[in-house]
Amino acid sequence: MKNWKENYKTKLCSPNEAIKNIKSGNRIVTGHACAEPTILIEELVKNKELFRNIEIIHLFTMGESEYAKEENKEYFRHNALFVSDKTRITANSSYGDFTPSFFFETPKLFQKGGVLQADVALIQVSAPNDEGYCSYSLSCDYTKAATENAKIVIAQINKNMPKTLGNCFLHIDDIDYIVEYDSPLIELKPLKIGEIEKKIGEYCASLINDGDTLQLGIGAIPDAVLSSLTEKKNLGIHSEMISDGVIDLIEAGVINNSMKNLNKGKIIVSFLMGTKKLYDYIDNNPKVELHPIDYVNNPIIAAQNDNLVSINSTIQIDLMGQANSESIGHQQFSGTGGQVDFIRAASLSKGGKSILALHSTTAKGKISKIVFNLDEGATVTTSRNDIEYVVTEYGIAYLKGKTLRERAKCLISIAHPNFREELTRKALEKFGTL
Ligand code: COA
Repeated sequence: MKNWKENYKTKLCSPNEAIKNIKSGNRIVTGHACAEPTILIEELVKNKELFRNIEIIHLFTMGESEYAKEENKEYFRHNALFVSDKTRITANSSYGDFTPSFFFETPKLFQKGGVLQADVALIQVSAPNDEGYCSYSLSCDYTKAATENAKIVIAQINKNMPKTLGNCFLHIDDIDYIVEYDSPLIELKPLKIGEIEKKIGEYCASLINDGDTLQLGIGAIPDAVLSSLTEKKNLGIHSEMISDGVIDLIEAGVINNSMKNLNKGKIIVSFLMGTKKLYDYIDNNPKVELHPIDYVNNPIIAAQNDNLVSINSTIQIDLMGQANSESIGHQQFSGTGGQVDFIRAASLSKGGKSILALHSTTAKGKISKIVFNLDEGATVTTSRNDIEYVVTEYGIAYLKGKTLRERAKCLISIAHPNFREELTRKALEKFGTL
């Protein structure tokens, strides 16, 4: 039997040779977010005339996404399980699709015989270690399951991809075609934290106790929460992803994972989106482990950590506490992602709390995000039965166990003052009294 190094050589090919193994009508699943295999996708689009009706499944797309454009509709059809600004127009058009799913259930869709099993997995991984194992690096999430169950695996091996640790390895023998290409990594720069985010961050921090385990999403609000935690002690992380914002807290000893019941001493995540600062930090770092999303986001597993606090954001909340976190009216804006996975995990966790943190308004203050009714066509991402804490720059509303009337009153009290009168009038029409 050949050793893996000899096998490696026989699998090496150019991007062009690699994509010629794809056939019209195939379903392709691509690596996620910052681990998108940029050179393979570029080559696929460059050679589009060779193909017809290829379905491309992706979650958060950070690359150029040329294949998703209308001019390429006879060659490719984009099927999004989460929408980013690169794919929003397509996912809401006649030439693209959106498939709703809890994030933790996506690996099941890609299993052998699963409804979305891939013909081809196009992925980007780290260079192999001495035993021939490549790390899934920045994206283990659904990518591992999609790759393990795909009929053909084509991997871009990039020496710049950090070697992350955990349950996130793929052996060279399980790759069919290897393209060596050391492209610069896709980065997500931290957003500017303004006064409003700072206020929201402080309210969220007031709900977090020493020893809690945290899940945080991406964006200015999670970053603001992190920057308000400098005085806390013994925090842990069990989160679908992390960004640069956690590094300062780890280095200051605030995040040490010492109180976690599960994976004590380790940060547990499923993908990473940040800058070189994060990528250098997590390279071969045993303090951080990546695991598949059906482990990290599985509510029953995540809930094994006591005092699990989830912090996510939302687009719109009605006065009953139904939160739409993924659409603007009928238009799909993002996706469910891991929001409900972690809200349920926090609810199952002993001492856990779930927080939805949002600006009180959007459109430069012209639209309230706390509304009497969700917009027509809006998705209910988090149900009124699941919701617990809601935080805006005007305070904290606790909704569990509250009547519909009490919920309306609490939510109006944290709405922007410019909208409280109108919300109160509508609530009074419904309830008679508040
Ligand atoms: N009506 C109209 N437009 C709205 C709107 C509303 N109620 N809410 C947001 N928008 C538009 C606006 O253009 C807004 O920009 P502006 O407020 O500066 O004008 C833009 O969307 C971005 O809104 P914002 O709330 O700042 O977005 P965000 O980047 O913080 O993301 C979610 C918020 C809810 C879209 C995002 O957190 C998400 O997709 N959540 C679901 C998935 C999830 O929670 N996963 C788990 C963690 S990764």
